[in-house]
Amino acid sequence: MHSDSAPSLLHWQEHGQTFSAPWLSESRHAPPKAVLPVTHISAAAALQHLHQHTALLWRGDYHQGKQLLAAVKKRVRQKRKAAADFHTLRMQQAQQSRLFHLILVEILPGSVVNNRRAPDVRAALADVYGADNEAPFLLPLQALLGFIGAHEWHKKGVPVAALGGAHIHVPFGVFSPLRGEYLDLVAHAPLAPHWRNAWDIGTGSGVLAAILAQRGLNVTGTDTNPRALSAAAANLQSLHLNAQLQAADLFPAEGMADLMVCNPPWLPAQPTSDIETALYDPKHGMLRRFLAAAPARLNADGEIWLVMSDLAEHLGLRHADELPQWICDAGLRVVAKTDTVPQHGKAQRPDDPLYAARSRETTSLWRLAAA
Ligand SMILES: C[S@@+](CC[C@H](N)C(=O)[O-])C[C@H]1O[C@@H](n2cnc3c(N)ncnc32)[C@H](O)[C@@H]1O
Repeated sequence: MHSDSAPSLLHWQEHGQTFSAPWLSESRHAPPKAVLPVTHISAAAALQHLHQHTALLWRGDYHQGKQLLAAVKKRVRQKRKAAADFHTLRMQQAQQSRLFHLILVEILPGSVVNNRRAPDVRAALADVYGADNEAPFLLPLQALLGFIGAHEWHKKGVPVAALGGAHIHVPFGVFSPLRGEYLDLVAHAPLAPHWRNAWDIGTGSGVLAAILAQRGLNVTGTDTNPRALSAAAANLQSLHLNAQLQAADLFPAEGMADLMVCNPPWLPAQPTSDIETALYDPKHGMLRRFLAAAPARLNADGEIWLVMSDLAEHLGLRHADELPQWICDAGLRVVAKTDTVPQHGKAQRPDDPLYAARSRETTSLWRLAAA
């Protein structure tokens, strides 16, 4: 699920010589067709190159590079027509993102950016790539800015009321419980006294595993994203909570569970980057496989807790009857359903293109048991 193919090698001419370097990008965009080093360029001229899929290798002042990227974004967004539906909007966003990822900076060995007034980005890059690079590579400035922002959030952490206000630290590439209304649903749902163990399927930052461990259960968390598993391990350790973690598609390799909790990707759509696999899942593949296979791994008198938003229904991507039907098809019944309303910023911003749907969104904890 996470792209591990070798990065494309890009070539360019500079000072009469040919240079090559790998192109790293956390997006799934196709590599540029050509690379042009520049120190000064207007946003209009830059856009002409970007539309031809020629990347600009920014050699000028770092802050002027940021200004160029901002000016390019402004121009592109001004020309944007209002999207008629969710899929058109996603397509539009992917096309724009491709353009924005074509302004590049060179990362020299040791994670150094040599542009004038460039900041020290070593810690931000170490968060994403682990060790310092030994050879130069090209990185979209857009991605670098994302890494720097993610690094700040990683350090700062997200306070979680259900963990007594303790912070969960989320690195780049891992789902953040920033909009945490669903956490209280899991923290307050009733536990049967005979339950001993719980599985957190798709553990992400480990936040639900931590809440369940704090409630006295013996927890195993799984994920397919290696970054999520290391983030979860670090969070559990700093909270002094115990849980086992496994790299697994859905369920742990062995055993049965008294309680299974799953907060799957909420929207049935194609992810455009690895980080989006936590949010978008074509045709709700993970959710449907989880529901179909979970009953066989659930102990008698156990429960499945499914965290789901109905945003997909308000966007016309899923019919309101479908989830109840999948639950029924799996041989499960709904024990109870508790709802909460998202408090996050986007739900309150009328300029967000999905505002109409977001303002009606409800997040629910579905408690399910064998029918
Ligand atoms: C919406 S996030 C939820 C993360 C965390 N449980 C939370 O509530 O904050 C979904 C998580 O499921 C993981 N995931 C997606 N498909 C998976 C699969 N087939 N098996 C295990 N984990 C998966 C993603 O990597 C991501 O970390």
